[in-house]
Amino acid sequence: MNNLPKHIAIIMDGNGRWANNRHLPRLAGHREGANAVQRTIEAAQKFGIKFLTLYAFSTENWSRPQDEINGLMDLLSKTLDTYTAQAKKKNYRLLVSGARDKLPPAVLGKIDKAVQITAQNTGLTVNLALNYGARQEIVHAVNTLLAQGKTNISMEDISAHLYQPGVPDPELIIRTSGEERLSNFLLWQAAYSEFYFTPVLWPDFNAEELQKALNEYARRTRRFGGI
Ligand code: IPE
Ligand code: IPE
Ligand code: MG
Repeated sequence: MNNLPKHIAIIMDGNGRWANNRHLPRLAGHREGANAVQRTIEAAQKFGIKFLTLYAFSTENWSRPQDEINGLMDLLSKTLDTYTAQAKKKNYRLLVSGARDKLPPAVLGKIDKAVQITAQNTGLTVNLALNYGARQEIVHAVNTLLAQGKTNISMEDISAHLYQPGVPDPELIIRTSGEERLSNFLLWQAAYSEFYFTPVLWPDFNAEELQKALNEYARRTRRFGGI
């Protein structure tokens, strides 16, 4: 396939509605969402994508009921084990973007282990946006630069001090579930991203849906302000 994005970022939305449609608890939707993550990673790898950023938990998601948060953290802790094992087998690298504060120690331990164990892998890079907020990320970058004594900050400086400076800006951002907003995701990096919105709920997302997004992306003309 030609005109393939190097980096795809996905706002994985609609787990709650998927569960609701089936009269199931919201957590059942999150569990099915974790299976969709697995499928999407495999599909991205098959299509030859280099970077895949997945928005798993936002800084605003702490405002959800405590039992949903606990369920999500529990699920995350379990799926991190699965992803780490898969990553080792399939040669993909795991990165995490976000703040460490508020995350339970069990999750932090698993994140560190996953990142460390897969650091040398050369296949797809999966960047999990976890406890992630784009405004917080930019403020964090600026504060890091100030702490280094910088007084004149360039765009390159900010890019170099984001959570994952080695990950290029995404050419394509996908959001599922019919919502058409960024919800504090990659505000800096999305300056010239193409957007693809689909009504498909995240737990129903699969290789075919990813292919549709890639086909649409391939048809777009990116001008970057030129003509
Ligand atoms: C996305 O699904 C998962 C997270 C934000 C953790 P939602 O839980 O937001 O599902 P809806 O939007 O309520 O359907
Ligand atoms: C965005 O989804 C965050 C994630 C997918 C992790 P939300 O469901 O939290 O976003 P809003 O509240 O509808 O904007
Ligand atoms: Mg939602």
